[in-house]
Amino acid sequence: MPLQWDPAWNIGIEIIDAQHRRWVEIFNALERSFLQGESMFDMQLAAFKEILDYTHFHFDEEEKLMAESGYPAFSSHRRLHKDFDSLIYGHFRKHESGETMLTSEMLQLMRNWLIAHIQSEDQKIATFLASTEKAGSQ
Ligand SMILES: [Fe+2]
Ligand SMILES: [Fe+2]
Repeated sequence: MPLQWDPAWNIGIEIIDAQHRRWVEIFNALERSFLQGESMFDMQLAAFKEILDYTHFHFDEEEKLMAESGYPAFSSHRRLHKDFDSLIYGHFRKHESGETMLTSEMLQLMRNWLIAHIQSEDQKIATFLASTEKAGSQ
């Protein structure tokens, strides 16, 4: 089942929400290539590389936003990004070398991590920004 974007996952920062929706699209492409089987190795690898690159891009953008706004939990949030990045990069390298194949557990882990991260950690950035905007307009 492709991952369907749930509007409840919008955190209220349009540029970040758009990136999260794009991530879900790329994830679905990766899952489709997985479902087509091991004969699609090159396609899987390209899709895996795409999600890795997009994850980097998105984390960089989000970290810039946190740094610029003086978000207090910036370093712990960045740590969570780095841990996830290392995890999927490790799997990508194993896939690339043919050591292990992409598994449904791995896909499940990726989607669960992202959705949980959006709803807890990313949401906190939006809440913080909304509170500073209110304070600034008083
Ligand atoms: Fe994040
Ligand atoms: Fe995010």
